[in-house]
Amino acid sequence: MKQLNLFALGAVMVAGVAVAHTGVQNVAVKARMDAMSGMGAEMKTLGLMAKGATPFDTGIARAAAKAIAEHAAATPGLFEAEETDPKSEAKAAIWTSFDDFTAKARELETVALGLADSISAAGDLGPAMVALGATCKSCHAAYRE
Ligand code: HEC
Repeated sequence: MKQLNLFALGAVMVAGVAVAHTGVQNVAVKARMDAMSGMGAEMKTLGLMAKGATPFDTGIARAAAKAIAEHAAATPGLFEAEETDPKSEAKAAIWTSFDDFTAKARELETVALGLADSISAAGDLGPAMVALGATCKSCHAAYRE
């Protein structure tokens, strides 16, 4: 049953992503946007649970953190080539400071992996979102319009 719910959620997320990115012509840009939207969707899963809008479930919460870690691990590779698109919000500074950009992605990966092993109660979700959100923000502040 849990698997089924996750599958349904995944289908909804994919549909949402497709709608959000119509008009992006560059497939490399679309791929990195999709990865970011995936992170956003996982954060939403955690956020709804943190608010009590969905019931706390250790497995789903840890899976969300794990998925964020996987997107973070893929981030440097997805951004390595300096690809652009009129719809992109990526700043050119990414490619002049790529080591720092990579370090910020690694930081998110480390935080998310830690949470994927440690979330065990509803009360863990608030601090988890704060920790994750800080790393998202630190990269967006420097590298996203
Ligand atoms: C290492 C840097 C980095 C980290 C860490 C990062 N982002 Fe991003 N994010 C970006 C960049 C750069 C863009 C703009 C990409 C583009 O438009 O080409 C972006 C765009 C996005 C978008 C918009 C995607 C779209 O549809 O256009 C969302 C949503 C997003 N990020 C969510 C997150 C969340 C949630 C986290 C943390 C869990 C996070 N990001 C962490 C760099 C990062």
